[in-house]
Amino acid sequence: MMDSKEARVEIESLREQLNYHNNKYYVDNSPEISDFEFDALMRRLMELEAQYPEFSDPLSPSVRVGSDRTAEFASVAHRYPMLSLSNTYSIEELTAFVERIEREAEQQTEFACELKFDGTAISLTYEDGRLVRAVTRGDGATGDDVTANVKTIRTIPLTLSGENIPKMFEIRGEIFMPYASFDRLNAEREAAGEQLFANPRNAAAGTLKQQQSAVVAKRGLDCILYQMAGDNLPFSSHIENLEAARSWGFKVSEYMTLCRGAKEVVEYINHWDQARKSLPYPTDGVVIKVNNFALRRTLGFTAKSPRWAVAYKFKAESALTKLLSVDFQVGRTGAITPVANLEPVLLAGTTVKRASLHNAEQIAALDIRIGDMVYVEKGGEIIPKITGVELSERCTDSAPFEYITHCPECGTELVRFEGEAKHYCPNQGGCRPQILGRIIHFIRRKAMNIDGLGAETVELLFNSGLIADIADLYTLRATDLAVLPRLGEKSADNIINSIEASKAVPFARVLFGIGIRFVGETTAKYMASHFKSIDALMAADKQALQEAEEVGDKIADAVLEYFADPVNIAIIERLRAAGLQFEGEQTERASDILEGKNVVVSGKFTTYSRDEIKALIEQHGGKNQSGVSSNTDFIVAGENMGPAKLQKAEKLGITILSEQQFTELIAGVATTTATPAEVEQPKAAEQQVTQTTLF
Ligand code: IVH
Repeated sequence: MMDSKEARVEIESLREQLNYHNNKYYVDNSPEISDFEFDALMRRLMELEAQYPEFSDPLSPSVRVGSDRTAEFASVAHRYPMLSLSNTYSIEELTAFVERIEREAEQQTEFACELKFDGTAISLTYEDGRLVRAVTRGDGATGDDVTANVKTIRTIPLTLSGENIPKMFEIRGEIFMPYASFDRLNAEREAAGEQLFANPRNAAAGTLKQQQSAVVAKRGLDCILYQMAGDNLPFSSHIENLEAARSWGFKVSEYMTLCRGAKEVVEYINHWDQARKSLPYPTDGVVIKVNNFALRRTLGFTAKSPRWAVAYKFKAESALTKLLSVDFQVGRTGAITPVANLEPVLLAGTTVKRASLHNAEQIAALDIRIGDMVYVEKGGEIIPKITGVELSERCTDSAPFEYITHCPECGTELVRFEGEAKHYCPNQGGCRPQILGRIIHFIRRKAMNIDGLGAETVELLFNSGLIADIADLYTLRATDLAVLPRLGEKSADNIINSIEASKAVPFARVLFGIGIRFVGETTAKYMASHFKSIDALMAADKQALQEAEEVGDKIADAVLEYFADPVNIAIIERLRAAGLQFEGEQTERASDILEGKNVVVSGKFTTYSRDEIKALIEQHGGKNQSGVSSNTDFIVAGENMGPAKLQKAEKLGITILSEQQFTELIAGVATTTATPAEVEQPKAAEQQVTQTTLF
């Protein structure tokens, strides 16, 4: 064993080497050592850090691998608000923008033209060359502190080196998911039966809000920085500052270009409208910014955005390809969705093989035929849309498309409801995808939140005859599950526990979970708070139903139809007998014991989920807070409460309750009284706005 001094020297040297090679690999794209050598250095560092915890450093390159602790995101006020940009899709408007600024400046002006990266905005604060905080945009004034997650993104430097680094500054940019990472992630999710991300932007934003930084570390996020703010930035123009930032270790776009006059700006746009298609990450436009800070100051801001910048957005990309065949999918409500199978074609960075066709009317309106060359476009959804047919390429022997008349799964004749464009299979009780779909919907997080059961396990249970409907879930025993292939004893116990816990799920979510056609999460909430019990809801006639908020003709009919079916009534009675909540409002007061109290919930719990604890707090009159502050009354802490929260709570002298103490408190047998901590008010953040503070 080495002595502590030697360990420290080696740790420091390893950190330096790893930071250097990380930057070479991820930022400069010119690695000097192999992945194997890099991993060996990292392993050695982690080994030493584990042996010598006294030398731990929150910015050690080992934080890149993340942690599996559950994070919560404190809200943080932005020192400089995070504004948005005004948008245009028109070259004329863009030209007018450039010319207006030139008129105001009374001379030809320098514009920095940049790509508009399609991800999620982040603001990074550095002090003394070290990353201290990473905050999301939030509402522009306040965002979420996602520092632990951001530290796992390898293109973001943890420590800076170089010249002219201000003592403190903020740098902002876009965290995005390159196409390769996105495709890999969705492929993994598909294999695991998890919901897919609609596009790389959603995937990036969703990943950044992950509770475990180790998950973030694996998802391959990237970040390009495009804007600086601070009181003493080294230069008086945007590009010079960003070039300096690049030299300190940040990834700054190599495609940022200085343009003069509208002509050069338009050339830049036209070039990138095409060239962006071969970039490995998503972009949705170009951002044009005045380069010179003095001119920016004269131009100033509107309430929402700077007058010195504008975003030109590209139109959605489309591609032409052949329609090979059409499949018909049957959803949980029996709705039929036609899906086109296409000859694979590259569109906005990913290969497209399937596209949505919506319904029979749309197919007829566009006169789409098998064998046609069709235009596909990507909107915000996972599946692209067919937007038209290239008639000049139609085969002479093509025939109009004939929509199906019977369910492709069970053969029942399809029906159409008035005012609905979709066809439906009415065989709810006997059509396999509908039965499975209903069970999968029931266990969803937003409904009964039965963890551990995924689409695949549901199918397995269904195939083995262990469940035939949602009520059967409550008859399952761990021993039934343990015999299934690929399911160990531990996962079986987990499933049984979470089925048990679902009995506490409030009425509104049960109502959503049972899957009445057209009754979404919000409608279920309104109905639950209007009728207060399933019995009252079942007794309501059409007129009474429509008295609930958001319930119109269509929903009222669907509710009546649902309760008219004796099969559904039998399921509800079995669920009721199993102990599910069929009455009570989610927000209905259980007591006033927490009246006026601000409560923070942190960590993992055993009897309740975190959301259930939060719901209990509300039911007893309290208010949930996301971060610890001086007006927090107490904290309900489970296992692994975040250390930052703990420290802050201790500093402010705030009472911490265990799960047990909390349940005793709301049961009215409190042994611990939660007294508001007496603390001094924190000083309002000093808002210094000096010369170079620009955003
Ligand atoms: S500058 C005050 N530059 O677009 C101006 N934004 O609505 C601050 N974005 O929220 C933004 N690429 O997330 C800027 N090169 C770029 C950008 C960019 C993408 C995003 C950013 C912002 C949104 C503007």
